[in-house]
Amino acid sequence: MTENATKKLFIKTWGCQMNVYDSHRMADILHPFGYRAVDTPDDADMVILNTCHIREKATDKVFSDLGRIREHKDLRAKSGKKTLIAVAGCVAQAEGELIMDRAPYVDMVFGPQTYHELPEMVVRALGERVVNTDFPIESKFDSLPVDHATQDGPSAFVSIQEGCDKFCTFCVVPYTRGAEYSRPAERILDEAKMLRDRGVKDITLLGQNVNAYHGDAVDGSTWSLGRLIRGIADIDGIERIRYMTSHPRDVDQDLIDAHRDVAKLMPYMHLPVQSGSDAILKTMNRKHTADHYREIIAKLRAARPDITFSSDFIVGFPGETEEDFEATMQLVRDVRFMSAYSFTYSARPGTPAANMQGLVHEAVMDERLQRLKTLLMEQQKEFNDAMIGQIIPVLFDGRGKKPGQLFGRTPWNHALYVMAGPEFFGKIANVRVDHATATSITGQLVQ
Ligand code: SAH
Ligand code: SF4
Ligand code: F3S
Repeated sequence: MTENATKKLFIKTWGCQMNVYDSHRMADILHPFGYRAVDTPDDADMVILNTCHIREKATDKVFSDLGRIREHKDLRAKSGKKTLIAVAGCVAQAEGELIMDRAPYVDMVFGPQTYHELPEMVVRALGERVVNTDFPIESKFDSLPVDHATQDGPSAFVSIQEGCDKFCTFCVVPYTRGAEYSRPAERILDEAKMLRDRGVKDITLLGQNVNAYHGDAVDGSTWSLGRLIRGIADIDGIERIRYMTSHPRDVDQDLIDAHRDVAKLMPYMHLPVQSGSDAILKTMNRKHTADHYREIIAKLRAARPDITFSSDFIVGFPGETEEDFEATMQLVRDVRFMSAYSFTYSARPGTPAANMQGLVHEAVMDERLQRLKTLLMEQQKEFNDAMIGQIIPVLFDGRGKKPGQLFGRTPWNHALYVMAGPEFFGKIANVRVDHATATSITGQLVQ
């Protein structure tokens, strides 16, 4: 089919792994219509910007990218070629009208729940400007191709759950992605088997609240994430299973037991906590306390002693005092994270927190963020240092920066670079770690 795919499609992706997954599905659905994914926007017949709305600067970046892509479009127009420019993703969902007004050269704006309508939207866009920010009744998952025709390498994402009903007061996701939806278990198992047939060994199950998963199973029961993980572990050839992103409220016994029982489930969990202050957690509407978080961590460590954790933090949420921030620092000292993302709070239009009193001064936020990052970096370095001298099974799923080098991941989700020939790509091999810094690890193949 590739031979017939003559039109060039460039997709640029921001934001979370859901967007990465969606971008691949968009490429898959346009492929039979003659579009072939390319790496640069130059001379592309269609450009899709798959955008993220989670923090402020994301929107600005979209507009600055649009400016550049418009130049490509104008240049191509001079030689009589048409270029379709599309904005997809969460900015499109939230700011569709604004984009259409501010960027008249944009042909299509469509939200995350409409991608299965893409071929029809493309046809329409050749004659008129298209805006589609509906939340259709039918799920895009039921109509999007999941054959992963563009899959490359041994690691893949499978989206199992989308949307969010939790309405944390700072967050745009419930508005941009819509209500929580879990895909039926059978379809997920089929998709995993198909990926296995394409050589995939490592599957990451994706969802905005992946552990809120409650999918219909063929036997009429409802499967939890823990049950689904067991089902995927039964597929021969799938060797590593991960999932993200989890919410502390939905860590149930089933999931904890899966970490104890399922060898293929990797000893790693991304579990955002945002803050260590109960007062802030409450105004964030997280619906759990800092101690509840500590208890979950303790239970998971009891079930799987070598499990590592990563997290997300928001610093400077409205009303955050120095004491509140110190509670976050204390939580980090207590838990010890292998890695983490930390951000200063960014007010998002339309969210409840945007109207809250007690804004934290930017300089104070920045200073707190630095202190938190320093602590998190120290912990990350400790985890990395602890790897030195160990022999670890690494799955090679990327090409390195230097020639002759491959990129791989440990079971605990460390990324590392190893000198290894291309024959190791896609395989799991033992590596002895010889060097580590806070941000990188290197090692040698053990033959
Ligand atoms: N569903 C996940 C988070 C998805 S958003 C959860 O509940 O934890 C990814 C991360 O972006 C969040 O964990 C949070 O740390 C950050 N984030 C979301 N909204 C933000 C905002 N308004 N300002 C700063 N960071 C934000
Ligand atoms: Fe956003 Fe909260 Fe939902 Fe996570 S759980 S996506 S932070 S509203
Ligand atoms: Fe961003 Fe939307 Fe994901 S706002 S983080 S792309 S769900």
